[in-house]
Amino acid sequence: MDSQIGFIGGGQMAEALIRGIIESGLYKADAIFVTEPNRKRRDFMTDTYGVQGFADSTPVWDSCETVFLAVKPQIMGAVLASSKELVSTEHLIITIAAGLPISFYEKGLERDDCKIIRVMPNTPALVLEGASALSGNSNTSKDDLLRCEEILNKIGKAVILDESALDAVTGLSGSGPAYVFTFADAMIDAGIKAGLPRPTAETLALQTILGSVKLLMESKKHPAELRAMVTSPGGTTIAAQHVLERSGFKGIVMDAVEAAVNRSKELGKI
Ligand SMILES: NC(=O)c1ccc[n+]([C@@H]2O[C@H](COP(=O)([O-])OP(=O)(O)OC[C@H]3O[C@@H](n4cnc5c(N)ncnc54)[C@H](OP(=O)(O)O)[C@@H]3O)[C@@H](O)[C@H]2O)c1
Repeated sequence: MDSQIGFIGGGQMAEALIRGIIESGLYKADAIFVTEPNRKRRDFMTDTYGVQGFADSTPVWDSCETVFLAVKPQIMGAVLASSKELVSTEHLIITIAAGLPISFYEKGLERDDCKIIRVMPNTPALVLEGASALSGNSNTSKDDLLRCEEILNKIGKAVILDESALDAVTGLSGSGPAYVFTFADAMIDAGIKAGLPRPTAETLALQTILGSVKLLMESKKHPAELRAMVTSPGGTTIAAQHVLERSGFKGIVMDAVEAAVNRSKELGKI
């Protein structure tokens, strides 16, 4: 692996990646180069993490083989325009911007010989529990993809897929945290409606969600099997389960994910 790694944009997502990279020992802090035009934010990143901060992107492109593009999608065009003279075929460019296809970067850089990997991360990356999918253009090798996967595994779990699968990923794991937050909100309100004080309802609802996910992952059992284990004949769980089935809970969740996937496809065409 190259000895320095770069970030264009030192915001929330870059910070999560940098934390994961430093905590895992993948790179030393002073081998991480960050371009961040916002002085206050740049100082925060250099003071907090010991990374090297720059106001413009030249030192990053000059010193780092692997460069993450971690700016908002709406300013990506400007970043590409200002980078195109600095980019070479040696660079591995990894973008985490939501929604922009790889062809956008090839057009923006006015060349199609660069190695570009597009990543769809999600917000739990901010607590190093993200779910990311990545896909590379035809210039990227298997080693490039594995290198990117290794870095993303430091902020959660990553999978390598074709770019055509990224709309499905956006609908499932990209927007997914919002569905879980809605479910958590409903569980908390349900606890309050049943008479529990809010802090108690929050503690019990969130720990129930966390513990259930941990049990699912560690037991490697199918969700239906674990559900059957807590559903006793004539008991409380089956009474609740009946209501969920009658209102089409699973179908609603599947429809919601499908709507997000379709919207991602529509946005990709714009
Ligand atoms: N946050 C998430 O949960 C999440 C999830 C999935 C994907 N993403 C993607 O991750 C990317 C970064 O998101 P974020 O939440 O980290 O955004 P963010 O916190 O706003 O970070 C972007 C940073 O880039 C800086 N910047 C602006 N112009 C720049 C330039 N020309 N060169 C270098 N840096 C520049 C911004 O400074 P200013 O504030 O001064 O503009 C800001 O500090 C986005 O493309 C987003 O789509 C984010």
